[in-house]
Amino acid sequence: MAPAPLQKVIVVYGATGIQGTAVTLSLLASRQNFVVRALTRKPESEKAQMLARLGAEIVKADGHSDIDMRAALENAWGFWLNTHHHDEAVMNPEGPTDEDLGRRLVTLAAEAGVKVFIYSTCDSPAKVTNGKAPVPGMDELFAREFQEFDAVIGAWPAWYFENFIDAEYAQAFGGFPLQPDQEGYLTFTSPRIGGRTKPGTGVQTVSVADDFGEMVHALFLSPLKWHRCTVPCMSDSFSYEDMVGAFTEVTGKKARYLPMPSYKDFPTHGSSVLVELQDVYRYMQNANGWFFGAPDDTATCQQLKDEARADKGLPPQRLISMKDYFVRHYGGN
Ligand SMILES: NC(=O)c1ccc[n+]([C@@H]2O[C@H](COP(=O)([O-])OP(=O)(O)OC[C@H]3O[C@@H](n4cnc5c(N)ncnc54)[C@H](OP(=O)(O)O)[C@@H]3O)[C@@H](O)[C@H]2O)c1
Repeated sequence: MAPAPLQKVIVVYGATGIQGTAVTLSLLASRQNFVVRALTRKPESEKAQMLARLGAEIVKADGHSDIDMRAALENAWGFWLNTHHHDEAVMNPEGPTDEDLGRRLVTLAAEAGVKVFIYSTCDSPAKVTNGKAPVPGMDELFAREFQEFDAVIGAWPAWYFENFIDAEYAQAFGGFPLQPDQEGYLTFTSPRIGGRTKPGTGVQTVSVADDFGEMVHALFLSPLKWHRCTVPCMSDSFSYEDMVGAFTEVTGKKARYLPMPSYKDFPTHGSSVLVELQDVYRYMQNANGWFFGAPDDTATCQQLKDEARADKGLPPQRLISMKDYFVRHYGGN
């Protein structure tokens, strides 16, 4: 059924993922006349069904199918795009790369007449560090070349808070905050970045579920204002020493930070995700510890959150802090 004239259809790619779900949930609560079209390859999944119950229009689409994507983008005003660049389908040397996939999807969106294109991205580490610390997978930026959209906006999520509730991440970083080591500590170990020795250089981190979805929501409210911007999105920044200290305060459990002398000490076990993390540490060590290559700008993040919440008829709320995140997820322990 064709949408009513004043409705704006926003297509969310990866709607069942961490970022896509947060963006979908916030947009669904908007008081604008948005229709939120959530794309998934598995409409029967629990997550897709949950989004459907909350009012999302669930559309089955595989990003690798032009037919699916053309149908999914029909009548779309807005498009949120986040591909996962370690997805198996883009890791096959014989097949398309993540950049190939991204270019195709942006081209299809332009052909479909999308007006506002907002995508998950980052700035180029090679550019930030004058070529000293490139991160393959973070350096290909092409969407801004497209002239067809009224607005093209990048949203750059910091490190996720969600990593601290993920067993695989916990394992890659020494077990914190889920698995105690042999000495009974919840140990977080990583190359040193920023922190206590350098004021103002904490680890820039975002809660995707609490804050990032609302920030992206706000970009859809004033797209022309943000046209051609890449917006660094964060909730809090902190040293790893303070992070483990706060965890102990909240839970009473023994936790510690063991810094690694060099980014080269971060074990990669041949995993492409961990190899990239090693590159990210090298990059951050060359950029004052800043994931964004620049100091915190929580004022902009808070302003975006406020705008989205006002649009939803909700009272203002502060960006979540690291400590409150731990209280929320581990406070009852
Ligand atoms: N972890 C961090 O700290 C961090 C920080 C900044 C940026 N990032 C970046 O964030 C990205 C991952 O985003 P995320 O965490 O939201 O990922 P995610 O939770 O894994 O979600 C990815 C979604 O994409 C959908 N998808 C995958 N292949 C698809 C295809 N062929 N066609 C259509 N949909 C497809 C999947 O939905 P269905 O299965 O339902 O189809 C899935 O829900 C990565 O590139 C990562 O580098 C991560």
